[in-house]
Amino acid sequence: MQEQLISDTSQAFRSVFHSEPERIFLAPGRINIIGEHVDYSDGFVLPAAIDKYICFAVKKTVDSDICTFYAKDFNDSFSFKVNEKQVPVAQMWVNYVLGVFNAVQESGKSIGGLQIAFGSTIPMGSGLSSSAALECGFAYILNELFNLGFNKKELAVIGQKAEHTFVGVKCGIMDQFSSVFGKEHQVIMLDCNSLDHQYFEANVDGYSFVLFDSCVKHTHLTSGYNDRRRDVDNGKKVLWERFPDVQKFRDFSFEMLDEVRSEIGEISYKRCMYLLKEIKRVEEAAKALSEGNAEYLGKLLNETHSGLSTEFEVSCNELDFMVEETRKENGVLGARMMGGGFGGCSINLIKNENVEDVIAAVAARYKAAFDIEMKVYRVKISDGINEYTRNEILI
Ligand code: GLA
Repeated sequence: MQEQLISDTSQAFRSVFHSEPERIFLAPGRINIIGEHVDYSDGFVLPAAIDKYICFAVKKTVDSDICTFYAKDFNDSFSFKVNEKQVPVAQMWVNYVLGVFNAVQESGKSIGGLQIAFGSTIPMGSGLSSSAALECGFAYILNELFNLGFNKKELAVIGQKAEHTFVGVKCGIMDQFSSVFGKEHQVIMLDCNSLDHQYFEANVDGYSFVLFDSCVKHTHLTSGYNDRRRDVDNGKKVLWERFPDVQKFRDFSFEMLDEVRSEIGEISYKRCMYLLKEIKRVEEAAKALSEGNAEYLGKLLNETHSGLSTEFEVSCNELDFMVEETRKENGVLGARMMGGGFGGCSINLIKNENVEDVIAAVAARYKAAFDIEMKVYRVKISDGINEYTRNEILI
């Protein structure tokens, strides 16, 4: 599938730019085992890059100050001058790359002309972070082609900045970090406060993580994502006024939160309560994973879903239904919505021998309830953004 994507994207490059691409880059999407919405609240997350990618076919142009993008999946193009300041535009996909360009420019670095065609196997609006792959893929390419000297953390932060400034979504760092730092077979335990991270094997022998796509599409520009951040920020402001010596959000206790309950109001209280509980769950999940305790991990996934659904309120009827029906099946240890929410995928921990039966049962009931065909993704944990060599490309 990856070979097909590379070949299709190279072909698109040839037909639009009438020449061969010089280099090919792959930027992956991500899953997140657990740790949802805590990446902008000093939490820990447990994501991993997956074998679904945005592929970029790229060529530097000589004597040109123009960067031209061709988005194969939208059959749409956009060009901009690399020595001028850029502002957000109406074509949504363009803002991800212009935002990256702007962040690079603001850091005082400059780039030359480029031609880029890109295509994707990451389903959009499904909670698998196609946006981060686009942002960080482009940042990585600029860094490589123009020797900008950014390190990997800086590339992730540039991607996040693009999303904040040009797209308007106040996302955390998890998606960009995973796309840049992913490693085959390894889950990343990321401290979103310090960006310290460690890798470890997802040790769940006999079980698989399988994704069910509700096919309810969302964009976090219009979902409640930014509202949730506002609710949380209201709570944090009062907490820090009351307890100024606390360094990180995760160090507030449940008792401290209870003390400010009436001042911050029920909504902010519920949101902050969810976050403090979720941050603790991630630490327990990391332990469960490293000890191979799949049952306990499954229980934590279930708790996360109910927190996301009732306290953080970022699920939707379709996801709640899918998760509930999945849990009724034999061999299912845990199921929860994944990512920012308001649609997208669930992540399910299922005993290998039961996977087919679970898929058949849940897909049938989902279709009967909502008249939607659920999609299923069996993803492999893969490397982060990578370049493919010319020989590999052109076979
Ligand atoms: C989206 C955001 C991430 C993170 C998740 C929820 O994917 O981009 O930063 O907040 O939602 O965990």
